[in-house]
Amino acid sequence: MPGKLNRALMIIPAADIQSIVNRYLQAEASASMVLMELLQHTEDPLAIARALPTLDGEPTKLRELAQHLAENEAGCRTIVRMIRQRLDSPEIAGNAEDGIERCRRLFDASVAQSEELSVALYSLGSPELLSAATDEVISVLDDWGVLGLHRDALEIGCGIGRLMAPLSARVRFVVGTDVSSGMTSAATRRLKCISNARVQTTTGQDLSEFGSGSMDLVYSVDAFPYMALSGQALVERHFLEIRRVLRLGGDFVLFNYAYGLPRKDANGEVLALAHGAELEVIRADESPFRLWNGIGWLLRRT
Ligand SMILES: C[S@@+](CC[C@H](N)C(=O)[O-])C[C@H]1O[C@@H](n2cnc3c(N)ncnc32)[C@H](O)[C@@H]1O
Repeated sequence: MPGKLNRALMIIPAADIQSIVNRYLQAEASASMVLMELLQHTEDPLAIARALPTLDGEPTKLRELAQHLAENEAGCRTIVRMIRQRLDSPEIAGNAEDGIERCRRLFDASVAQSEELSVALYSLGSPELLSAATDEVISVLDDWGVLGLHRDALEIGCGIGRLMAPLSARVRFVVGTDVSSGMTSAATRRLKCISNARVQTTTGQDLSEFGSGSMDLVYSVDAFPYMALSGQALVERHFLEIRRVLRLGGDFVLFNYAYGLPRKDANGEVLALAHGAELEVIRADESPFRLWNGIGWLLRRT
């Protein structure tokens, strides 16, 4: 009922709202993902709350979504603040240094507002929702056969270390790097009791802190899309660096390569980068998650 919805939402196109919500109604996306997308679209939690009862669809499911919004209202308001800050910098930087500096400022500011939201807006700021999504990532890494107590792992763009904490029980050693000192401070605090996990602040330019053939697993979750905003040369350099630090038979798992790029194009770019770095493609362009819309690749040094 577009007319009714337009009254509730003023200028926000009703069809857009309905099509986002349909993905929850059709079990294609989790409640948290759909709320995050609605917030990105409307920047107005109140408008979403008003619109939900007016939409077409199973009333029980629409009520569930409204309840999820009400339960996470404070986090949703913080998301809107953070989205507005992020909108300031969607352009590719003139050079890698400027891009990395912009990224550092963005994430220093984000983590100061909410540790959970700084790494995953779809957590809606809830430690429990973030923990469930994190467990799902670890279980996919397990399914993909890249974990093992004889393996050393490196996370590029580790944020607050939410993945390193559970991963530390599944590998011999895990080290995480990040360009944001706000992030590495939070990660260091969160991981302080874990003896086989270490965090370090990096320049973000390369992996020169790590020796050649020193890692069995390199993984990166939602960091490459930000790296890409610092220019393609930085992304290419990282693929070459990843090959260098991997041992023979070592794996590179990439979850999300770019935002806003058609999926086919993103896959084409990752395959070309893998080819350029002589990494074998084991899995490509997969969507293995229920709680998150991450797209994954598994590349191997053979
Ligand atoms: C959205 S957060 C994700 C954090 C973490 N991977 C997670 O999923 O919880 C992206 C992180 O990548 C970091 N980052 C961006 N560019 C980077 C680079 N060139 N080198 C290392 N970290 C980078 C940011 O500072 C930020 O902490």
